[in-house]
Amino acid sequence: MDLRFLDFKIMGDERGSLAALEEYRNIPFNIKRVYYMFNTVPNVRRGCHAHKELNQVLVCVKGSCRILMDDGKEKKEVLIGSPAQGLFVGKMIWHEMYDFSPDCVLLVLASDYYDETDYIRSYGKFTEYLNNWGMIH
Ligand code: TYD
Repeated sequence: MDLRFLDFKIMGDERGSLAALEEYRNIPFNIKRVYYMFNTVPNVRRGCHAHKELNQVLVCVKGSCRILMDDGKEKKEVLIGSPAQGLFVGKMIWHEMYDFSPDCVLLVLASDYYDETDYIRSYGKFTEYLNNWGMIH
């Protein structure tokens, strides 16, 4: 599994730094939703699901956290902690977020509106769906 990182241009001057995220320019999909996680309680594990269709980009705009990425064949752990970089989390990637620093603000850009029916929240269902999905894609 290749991890896809997106590098954002940081525009800075004596006042500070600024990054801009734009659909189909530095974000590889149409952005229909933006959400963010903050004030995360220590030792919490979030995510722990995959999406059937949704594509997302995760940006740790402050602090850091770890992401486990799992395509059903291989697992990779990554530490993210740069507002200048996004991690692409495509459809059908089981992902878990943990080790949030107390100041962590995790921004997520998503290709669609919130839709609970797009979630696969059980790992068993994920592998089952992957086997069928492999046959139709
Ligand atoms: P949840 O899916 O449990 O978060 P995660 O799996 O990423 O740790 O979401 C927490 C709650 O927020 C849940 O009630 C669903 C709701 N929610 C929305 O209403 N809109 C959204 O865009 C997201 C991501 C969650």
